[in-house]
Amino acid sequence: MSTTESTTSAGTGNGPVPKPVRKAVIPAAGLGTRFLPFSKAVPKEMLAVVDRPVIQYVIEEAVDAGIEDILIITSRYKKSIEDHFDRLLDLEDQLEAKGKMAEAEQIRGLSELAQIHFVRQGEALGLGHAIGTARNHVGDEPFVVLLGDDIMHPRAGVLKGMIDAYNHHRAAVVALMEVPPEDISAYGCAAVKPMGDRLVEVTGLVEKPAPEDAPSNLAIMGRYLFTPDIFDEIAHTEPGVGGEIQITDAMARLLTHQRMLGYTFSEGRFDTGKKIDYLRAVVEMALERDDLGVEFREILADIVAREGIGV
Ligand code: UTP
Repeated sequence: MSTTESTTSAGTGNGPVPKPVRKAVIPAAGLGTRFLPFSKAVPKEMLAVVDRPVIQYVIEEAVDAGIEDILIITSRYKKSIEDHFDRLLDLEDQLEAKGKMAEAEQIRGLSELAQIHFVRQGEALGLGHAIGTARNHVGDEPFVVLLGDDIMHPRAGVLKGMIDAYNHHRAAVVALMEVPPEDISAYGCAAVKPMGDRLVEVTGLVEKPAPEDAPSNLAIMGRYLFTPDIFDEIAHTEPGVGGEIQITDAMARLLTHQRMLGYTFSEGRFDTGKKIDYLRAVVEMALERDDLGVEFREILADIVAREGIGV
């Protein structure tokens, strides 16, 4: 079994020093069919969760885990994502003229969160294909992938835990969460061997298995850490489930000659591309807000009482 590490040439005599994880790739070029009609003209990654678009939570999570350079995979239909992270000098000037300094600072800060770059996926050919478009930008460094419509609550600490696991074991890492057996056919699924604590050794991967064929009920959940070795595997991956180039299939190829770890967690993930999970995200994030939580809790309590929920 070989594991190719991304290394710097600045060795100290004990071999080359592994490169730190500083880059993130955020695929956001999908069609968003589960969120039509909203997603016809507005990207689902721009859905508001309280007052921030979903993709801003994703970027803040990456920055919080130490990521400095972010590549967003976008498309011609998703220009508002680029605009959100760009300067808007007119608005800044107008806010400042009205004395709204905090608001001006807040919108200026969006362009300063990290070095944010964009590349277009010309056609939505699947998540694996989308990640493949990051090859030139990533170069020879390890990198994380965060799905642009997947919010992870900071409390879950998933990305930081995955980066720690990579720094310790120097292997690709994927986030895994148990789902009810009947739901596994909506996800990539991993066969695993326990390693201790939250880590497992991935021994097999299959995309969207029928429940009776699933090797486990551990589902892949929107966060990945790869070395650039994944790009050759993506380049050799044929379209799979749904006619799309699936990242799970590319990972299954990688697994035939490299080690891969799973980082397991049990809560704090919101797939906002799915309507019911989007609603849950809005409610949970609003309840936690200092400026809204108390009032919103009262409103929810009134609704619960009126609807007789839990009675
Ligand atoms: P999803 O499968 O949730 O996105 O991909 P989708 O295909 O847009 O969703 P539905 O099924 O049609 O509702 C997860 C992430 O990967 C991106 C999506 O934008 C989303 O953020 N993605 C998906 C791409 O960038 N390119 C693709 O070809 C597919």
